Amino acid sequence: MSVDERAILERPTRLFKYIADRTEWGHRALGRLSRRGSITIEVDGEPVREISPRELVFEGDVVRVEGRAVAGARPGASDHWVLNKPEDVISTASDTRDRPDLAPWLERIGPRAFPVGRLDRETTGLLLMIDDGDLAYMLLHPDFHARKRYVLTITGDVSPEDSRLVMMLEGVDIGAKGGVLARAESAAVFERGPERSIVHVELTEGRKRQVRRMCRHVRFRLEHLHRDRFGPVHLGDVAPGELRRLGEGEIDALWGCVGGRAVPGERADAALVRHAAFLRERDEPNARLESWLTARGLWGE
Ligand code: URA
Repeated sequence: MSVDERAILERPTRLFKYIADRTEWGHRALGRLSRRGSITIEVDGEPVREISPRELVFEGDVVRVEGRAVAGARPGASDHWVLNKPEDVISTASDTRDRPDLAPWLERIGPRAFPVGRLDRETTGLLLMIDDGDLAYMLLHPDFHARKRYVLTITGDVSPEDSRLVMMLEGVDIGAKGGVLARAESAAVFERGPERSIVHVELTEGRKRQVRRMCRHVRFRLEHLHRDRFGPVHLGDVAPGELRRLGEGEIDALWGCVGGRAVPGERADAALVRHAAFLRERDEPNARLESWLTARGLWGE
């Protein structure tokens, strides 16, 4: 075994995530390979006999898929772009019904990038496309409070005191499970006129067609929906169909709006502690994991 076949890891990582981060294999394919016995792990040169679905990979282990070592550090995230999504484009990498999708832009950016959330087919505007799963997760999860701003073109006059804006702020029932109300963080008139008005709405959630469903509920006639801001990132003057690479300052600001770059590591450590406790409860303690956590003051007295 050569040194460069060994895992380089900051913290123990689930087997499938370890492989998926470094290869083109997805979790579903890895499930199939694992059932066939095509995934192996060596710890200090000794093969692990029975690989469980909860298996963790530690620094220095050797993981092989179909005999080939999966090695090295996870590639660093480096692609952060905004696209001004045009109308009639589906926000997926590959549409199953062959409609126009994001493939042409993703091909230009690089193979690891993906869209952060979705915009409806008819919605235009800011779509972040990045290659960092931790950052994407936090930007989309309402617990991290990243605000997305939508520009609503509404038929007719909307005054700043319009009760429909108040309803959006107080929360409306859009038929979500458990009756949880959909609520805007802010809703304000940007421009008004007898024919049409422009309203800015900010959300931290991202339920399916949320703005459209909220508009229907309060009886706003929505003519067009556009997103012009995601957290601290503005679309700026990017033309429809064009891409802009984010600057370092913007990437720092994105991390800042979800609590900082240390948050994914802290969350991963907390998940490992929960995992160790779970295995203890099941009478299957993982000694390697517990000693890794103990060495970092995360486990024991
Ligand atoms: N809310 C919607 O209704 N549609 C979008 O595309 C985004 C948010």
